[in-house]
Amino acid sequence: MTIEWGDVLWASLPIPAILLNADDTIADVTPSAEVFLNTSAKAMRDTPVWDRIMIDAPLERAFSRVRIDGSALFINDVDVSSGNRPPVHCNIQIGPVSDDSGKVLLLIEPRQIADRMDRASLSKSAAKSAIGMAEMLAHEIKNPLAGITGAAQLLAMSLSAEDREMTDLIVAEARRVMKLLEQVEQFGNLRPPKRCSLNLHDLLDRARRSASVGVAAQMKIVEDYDPSLPNTYVDGDQILQVFQNLMKNAAQAAEKNGGGTIRLRTFYDLSLRLRRPDGSGAPLPLQVEVIDDGPGIPPEIASDIFDPFVSGRENGTGLGLALVSKIIAEHEGWIGVESVPGRTVFRISLPVAPKETEIS
Ligand SMILES: Nc1ncnc2c1ncn2[C@@H]1O[C@H](COP(=O)(O)OP(=O)(O)O)[C@@H](O)[C@H]1O
Ligand SMILES: [Mg+2]
Repeated sequence: MTIEWGDVLWASLPIPAILLNADDTIADVTPSAEVFLNTSAKAMRDTPVWDRIMIDAPLERAFSRVRIDGSALFINDVDVSSGNRPPVHCNIQIGPVSDDSGKVLLLIEPRQIADRMDRASLSKSAAKSAIGMAEMLAHEIKNPLAGITGAAQLLAMSLSAEDREMTDLIVAEARRVMKLLEQVEQFGNLRPPKRCSLNLHDLLDRARRSASVGVAAQMKIVEDYDPSLPNTYVDGDQILQVFQNLMKNAAQAAEKNGGGTIRLRTFYDLSLRLRRPDGSGAPLPLQVEVIDDGPGIPPEIASDIFDPFVSGRENGTGLGLALVSKIIAEHEGWIGVESVPGRTVFRISLPVAPKETEIS
């Protein structure tokens, strides 16, 4: 007995597939397609495919293109339904069959499967486990690192000034690593926000003052505030950290040009609402923008800057914006970015403090 591998493969194909004749009648369907369409192969054979499934895409054109070009076509995000079941969100593929019969193969991939295979979501979960791993490592490395620093400092006492340069280097570099580890830990250990009613401009002012003597000392900082804004309802320390991280990035981006201008802008805009999972909408009318005139976000990382460990800088950790977006998400706020060379805007949208918190 010879095994027909073609038949075995066809029967075991895990995604619904339909083989079509040149006249768009069904030649065969896989068992998984029988399940998907909730009809038997026997009932479907030789009937027009259009009687069996409905797909909200111009498929007749697609089929004839595949037949003429002899190459496969992919159509994502379509609804596929049959007489026997409600529509399912799918990706579909149409491939030519390599004989001259004019047959085509229609593969239907329900989105749940497609989403699981989505590269973006894979890399997101990879980033998540990378964070867990990094946190653990950070914890483990900090102790020996403190030991190394201490030992180098002890050693320095009995060294000549010349040799002490080396121990100073050890201490300085160890401190740098320690700072990085603390950042990783901070990212992992973010506590839930302790919210109270706060004036946004007080927070911005604190961020501006510390930036102007620190990270953004070479920058001009311009304030463009709407002083009539009501209080917001946030964890002050965490939102301060957000503003500081954004200003630091702006200053670092402009560094190469020897400085530039950071504009801090606030205004009221009621049009933005955050859609909650339960369907209700939380208004986020308080808008804060941190705007710089630097070179803009490198296009190759622009879509990933909020993911951990994505950095466009040589010594960057890629944790600054990841922390920012985590904090904003915990506040049920919103962050957006627009960037072209010469103008980068990070906009944060926050809620207004509820009336009963107004007294604090
Ligand atoms: N204002 C900005 N202008 C240009 N690029 C920016 C700006 N803010 C962030 N970026 C880019 O996004 C990257 C990620 O930022 P961040 O998460 O803070 O990590 P890090 O600063 O450690 O690199 C930066 O390395 C930089 O390439
Ligand atoms: Mg940063």
